[in-house]
Amino acid sequence: MSNTKTSRIFLSPPSVGAKERAAVKRAFDSGYVAPCGPQVDEFERRLAALAGRRYAVAVSSGTAAIDLVMSELGVDESWTVIAPTLTFIATVGPAFHRGAKLVFVDCDATGNIDVALLEEALKPAALSVIAPYHAAERRSPKSKTLVIGVDLYGACCDYGAISKLCRRYGAIFVDDAAEAVGATWKGKSAGSAGLAGIYSFNGNKIVTTSGGGAIVTDDRGLAERAKKRAQQSREKCAWYEHKEVGYNYRLSNILGALGIAQLDRLPAILAKRRANFEWYAKNFPGDVMVPPDGSNHWLTIGLLPSRRERDAMSRRLAAADIESRPVWKPMHLQPVFAGCKVFGGEVAETLFERGICLPSGTDLSSADFRRIAGALR
Ligand SMILES: Cc1ncc(COP(=O)(O)O)c(C=O)c1O
Repeated sequence: MSNTKTSRIFLSPPSVGAKERAAVKRAFDSGYVAPCGPQVDEFERRLAALAGRRYAVAVSSGTAAIDLVMSELGVDESWTVIAPTLTFIATVGPAFHRGAKLVFVDCDATGNIDVALLEEALKPAALSVIAPYHAAERRSPKSKTLVIGVDLYGACCDYGAISKLCRRYGAIFVDDAAEAVGATWKGKSAGSAGLAGIYSFNGNKIVTTSGGGAIVTDDRGLAERAKKRAQQSREKCAWYEHKEVGYNYRLSNILGALGIAQLDRLPAILAKRRANFEWYAKNFPGDVMVPPDGSNHWLTIGLLPSRRERDAMSRRLAAADIESRPVWKPMHLQPVFAGCKVFGGEVAETLFERGICLPSGTDLSSADFRRIAGALR
């Protein structure tokens, strides 16, 4: 299955072909060329089943999904939002826009949040906490501390330990599983922990709708309100009646069809991503990060002894027209977050210095691997 017209080898390009094209055409021909329709409903049912959740709400991006959960919780200046420092900015962007106080926590060797440091971060935040969130109290939530876990590069963070800490300190846990569709933590699906999980279906993700995202949750009220807010918070009424102001975040039905076709291929996609990882484990001239069991191996990460060697390898790959990228630059090093509190940070800084994201696409061929091998040498 070929998805690129150039010979450039990308990090994680979309893997789409005849099945996806046929599914999109069927949706198109059905007339549901709109942000509602049977395919987007079916996509949501499939996502809920995949996540082991009761509800899924499909939206236009992972960022929109996070924003809707922030909106549901009423996150504002009075909130503290704790997140791992090693992540993509979208994890905390919506909380930042709502004026929340951001607190960053270092990762451990897996790249995911260090739970001992998370506990340190929760201790002072706990002072402002009265009781855990309850959906019925969303207008005046009693907990104003939110932990956003991240399943980095497709490996779930420690759902058990984070859930326990959040219960102990009365914080709310939301899991940013944007990169982890299809992954598992101790047999439970990515996105299945906490109040809600978040998925992304961006073009570079393991399952793509070109752009898209979802909230998965067991909280019926949250799911219903998020779906309504994603559609301008329109009341059920013949005319346009609004008791609150919403957003235009719904996923289009055409993209729902694309998502279903991708989910049909998920087992094969996961097998290929794992095979990519295994290839690098044997052939990468350095260490590769070995993610915890259950990873979907979205991206394989190589670790070089120093930044200089990492950059030299990036240059060699680039010269062969092969894309690579340094590991996420930690949030506490981002100029926009200067002044935010960080617990630890050195582990994430080292991964940023030494880590390189390697081409991990679903459609990588043997010829591609031969080219990569040549450039790595
Ligand atoms: C960890 C993480 N969170 C959130 C997002 C945002 O998802 P989207 O690009 O669909 O808005 C992404 C990916 O882009 C991500 O990697």
